[in-house]
Amino acid sequence: MSKNFKIALENKIFEIVSKASQELGLESYVIGGFVRDYLLQRDFKKDIDIVAIGSGIDLALKVSELLPNKPKVQVFKNYGTAMLRYKEIDIEFVGARKESYSENSRNPVVENGTLEDDQNRRDFTINALAFSLNQNNYGDLIDPFDGLTDLQNKILRTPLNPDITYSDDPLRMMRAIRFATQLNFVIEEESLKAIERNKERIKIISGERIVDELNKILSTPKPSIGFLLLYKTGLLDIILPELTALNNVEEIEGHTHKNNFYHTLEVVDNICPNTDDVWLRWAALLHDIGKAPTKRFNKKQGWTFHGHEFLGSKMVRKIFERLHMPLNQKMKFVAKMVMLSSRPIVLSEDIVTDSAVRRLVFDAGEDVDNLMTLCEADITTKNPAKFKKYHSNFDIVRRKIIEVEERDHVRNFQPPITGEEIMEIFNLQPSREIGVLKEAVKEAILEGEIPNEYQAAYDFILAKAEKMGLKKVTK
Ligand code: CTP
Repeated sequence: MSKNFKIALENKIFEIVSKASQELGLESYVIGGFVRDYLLQRDFKKDIDIVAIGSGIDLALKVSELLPNKPKVQVFKNYGTAMLRYKEIDIEFVGARKESYSENSRNPVVENGTLEDDQNRRDFTINALAFSLNQNNYGDLIDPFDGLTDLQNKILRTPLNPDITYSDDPLRMMRAIRFATQLNFVIEEESLKAIERNKERIKIISGERIVDELNKILSTPKPSIGFLLLYKTGLLDIILPELTALNNVEEIEGHTHKNNFYHTLEVVDNICPNTDDVWLRWAALLHDIGKAPTKRFNKKQGWTFHGHEFLGSKMVRKIFERLHMPLNQKMKFVAKMVMLSSRPIVLSEDIVTDSAVRRLVFDAGEDVDNLMTLCEADITTKNPAKFKKYHSNFDIVRRKIIEVEERDHVRNFQPPITGEEIMEIFNLQPSREIGVLKEAVKEAILEGEIPNEYQAAYDFILAKAEKMGLKKVTK
């Protein structure tokens, strides 16, 4: 006996789609994410997919006609799809299709098909579930591949042979891993093997779409689930080889170093409870990428990674370029976090001085709290004494950041005396001396020699200038 979920269709739009379908004499179904998320009792994500056995575009136009405000229908003729907005919800209409994809592109060869043809060409059994919108069986669950059982058993399975499903649209390999991470599902074994076999096909997918999935993985509470699957299937090596390069431990003369790949994944998981900012999570993911290319061994120090933060921050830009990510403030933020990622830890290993904290606030500016959040997540030591020590030192650093900021305002540092003022005092043209004096004032403030105030800076500059042989011009 079929299961009925009329109760899921309380939104008025379903009744209207049903009526429109009847008027056009075609069948329609709600399919995909809406059905899946309803059955999983997940939050509704404001996006409904309708499949019509016939023209999706005609159905969308009819639905718009029946709606009181006659919303605009966006038609994508090439894809045979249409979309309209109803009370903040995007409703997408598509005609049931039978399709196969050509080898080298995602452009499908499309033919009209039955509901089952359409369900067959979807990515996972749990995404092929449909509720009928037809009068004779309104609300019935149409589930030819037993997606409901997979949903209950938390399994991701493709309706067709996985080699076909993934090869047809290689983005689905990323989607499988993303759903596994988001929903805490297991990818069925044959499917996982198929991802390994088809991994090279990911190269035909645009960076933007790959990053969309990476962002969704990074937005979950435990992104390491996804990154380990990406690693295991070989996809990570293609998408982010800078990360897989961290997966090794070398030993020379009894000296080893930590596995920075697994460490990185721990850092990413650690940061999640403390920030929802996906860019800070990216910073956690990339904070150690400079370690593979800078790794050296010498007898005195053992393993070193000198300058890895600087190189890592340069690598961030390259990765963003390669994956077509935004090369804007977000990229600069991630690069800056990577660049500064070792600073607080170095600082907290020793006695936390005011001047070191002032310099940290000066360099990190507005992002100093984010930097602290990153560095706290970076503490993955399994030694409880060390763990406690680092965290309590970081508490001191955080307190001092507030104190120093209240006193010296270096977070958005504005020099208390401008270059123009210096030029006026000494009647100078733009010259090297002005730069030297400005830098000296900044250093004196950061070192705590003088407060960040006009008069103190003025007196300091006069004294310094005298040593440089400059004379104040009296007016
Ligand atoms: N779909 C697919 N293959 C893809 C993308 C989508 O088969 N590469 C199908 C699935 O049936 C999916 C539906 O199209 O359920 C809608 O896709 P989309 O809105 O991208 O994803 P959802 O499953 O709705 O989930 P989410 O919004 O979380 O991505």
